[in-house]
Amino acid sequence: MNIKVFIENFLKLIYGEKMKENEEQQMLFNFGKYTIGNKGEKRIYGNFWTNKQRQANSIHEISYHACFKPQLPNYFLRKYSNLRSIVLDPFAGRGTTAIESALLGRIPISNDINPISKILTEPRMQPPRYDEILERLNNIGFDENLETDIDLSMFYHKKTEAEIVSLKNYLQSRKEDGKEDYIDKWIRMVATNRLTGHSKSFFSVYSLPPNQSATKEEQIRINKRLQQIPPYRDVKKIILKKSKSLLKDITPSIRENLFEIAKYAVFLEEDSRDLKGIESNYVDLTITSPPFINLVDYVKDNWLRLWFNGYDYTSLKNKVTILNKLADWALFIRDTLRELYRVTKPMGYVAFEVGETKNADLSEIVYEKGLEVGFQHIATFINLQKFTKTSNIWGVDNNKKGTNTNRIVLFQKTGDKLIDEEYVKELEETIAKMIKPLKGIPLKIVIKSLSGFEVLDFDKNDPRDKELLNCLVRALKNAVEAINKEGIDSARPNEAGNAVESFVKEALTAIGCEAETPNTLAGKKKSSGYPDIIFKDQYGRYNYLECKTFNQKDLNSSLRTFYLSPSSNFKITTNAHHLLASFEMDKKNDRFYAKGLKLLTLEKIKVDVKNEFNANNKELYREDNILFEYYI
Ligand SMILES: C[S@@+](CC[C@H](N)C(=O)[O-])C[C@H]1O[C@@H](n2cnc3c(N)ncnc32)[C@H](O)[C@@H]1O
Repeated sequence: MNIKVFIENFLKLIYGEKMKENEEQQMLFNFGKYTIGNKGEKRIYGNFWTNKQRQANSIHEISYHACFKPQLPNYFLRKYSNLRSIVLDPFAGRGTTAIESALLGRIPISNDINPISKILTEPRMQPPRYDEILERLNNIGFDENLETDIDLSMFYHKKTEAEIVSLKNYLQSRKEDGKEDYIDKWIRMVATNRLTGHSKSFFSVYSLPPNQSATKEEQIRINKRLQQIPPYRDVKKIILKKSKSLLKDITPSIRENLFEIAKYAVFLEEDSRDLKGIESNYVDLTITSPPFINLVDYVKDNWLRLWFNGYDYTSLKNKVTILNKLADWALFIRDTLRELYRVTKPMGYVAFEVGETKNADLSEIVYEKGLEVGFQHIATFINLQKFTKTSNIWGVDNNKKGTNTNRIVLFQKTGDKLIDEEYVKELEETIAKMIKPLKGIPLKIVIKSLSGFEVLDFDKNDPRDKELLNCLVRALKNAVEAINKEGIDSARPNEAGNAVESFVKEALTAIGCEAETPNTLAGKKKSSGYPDIIFKDQYGRYNYLECKTFNQKDLNSSLRTFYLSPSSNFKITTNAHHLLASFEMDKKNDRFYAKGLKLLTLEKIKVDVKNEFNANNKELYREDNILFEYYI
């Protein structure tokens, strides 16, 4: 086993991680084609899912600029995480990763510098029932005379505007009073999503698609071009209609599961390069898509949404990352990946999605930066789904500003980097703990936990135990006599000790106690290991007897003489007394004779655990270990 496998096995032990051995190889077999990219990276081309595949859950249908389709996180969640895994998206947007994770029973951490992200995501993890939304809306009073603090007349009819402001004020006061509940949050989320759009199911007159807000000036131009004035739109009706369609696939059991997951879900508003709220080595899987270079202005896109939710959108301008130069983008990605490396559990994964731009393959930059911060690259996935000019893949329009395909760079936190970082220290400490001897464990407990059987107490006042003792004294004295008739021919005392066992067995059988080598649970006789003999006494009770030799002068020393190794073929298969007969041996003329003996009961002895590392001959004498061989 090489050092990497050794370390991985320990990781498995420490983190309880389900290792996904050979998964990468399998993946390559499943998807067939792979090539080596310009930077030497493995690229897998595949039809990772098709349009015919099961539609995503209706709860996802909230628009956000440059969001990906739920099928993308779904694919990686199924392959690279388990139930209750911790799944992070540091650029959460509308929360596609978080919602899909929650639907699959994973625990999401959803981070985005834009506060709208949480507003759109959190309520869909606690979806109210339709009747709850209806009742709440009916109880909110709308004041027809209210006006906005800013001019929004290019978007809204006067009455619609009054309804929006009434709702905004209601939600604001509920929040300030600490009364905002999951139904209010849901209404806030749907209203935020319905503010502007290009159909009658939005509050505004025809505008840009709902994932982008037009500026006031742009809207005035649109109105002029289309010769339109904002018509009245019924805010409550639109919220109810959208709620119904979002809740279409939410069954009572899905709702219950989502509420359960919501208890553990975490929402953060931090910069992706400094995820303060997440501890190191915590996340199982990250699925994310960073802000694209030169493409999307998330602050401008969300200005009206931010206004509705009481945020000053100008204050967000410096926080949200918008980069125009490729070199700056590369540094931003490197710093984000470095932070992802920190928060990822050893053996955890990061799936990093990037769109395609005209001038550069961003996946190559991600690949290089990932390696730089210590990740191992598993593969870059490139979807082979057919798409037409107007179709879109993973939610990005292919005819928009040069973005038309998506690549996912998959990393794992493993490899040599782990070996030389602080992680090794942690590992060493753990190993050190494991190999520190455990002392003074009652043998009774060891036997019970290894075999499930009791060690019976030897009670000197119990007539049956008295009788047993008498029998043993007779048998053992007979054994001494038999040994001493001719002595034992042996070079060393412990070999003589092995020979004693057969004398004891014979002597016990001679007085009517059937003595045998114990069986394992599998029913096989096994001579090696504890104990040597099992015999039945005249009351039909079982007794185990271990045979040993001793030396008077060593009796008080710390010399180890009693050993018991746990084994899957353990020889303890019944409740019994555990006894030990030890013979003092003497050597005369190259033969061993018994000078005396002690019979012990073991129910009170305490044992120590001493771990050892060992290697068998096959491992030790392996070809690649040998530097030199010499034979005569
Ligand atoms: C491509 S979008 C993510 C879309 C998401 N995958 C979805 O399905 O909705 C990128 C997100 O990154 C956020 N963002 C930009 N700069 C950030 C930063 N420095 N830290 C955290 N989030 C940032 C933006 O607000 C935006 O929501």
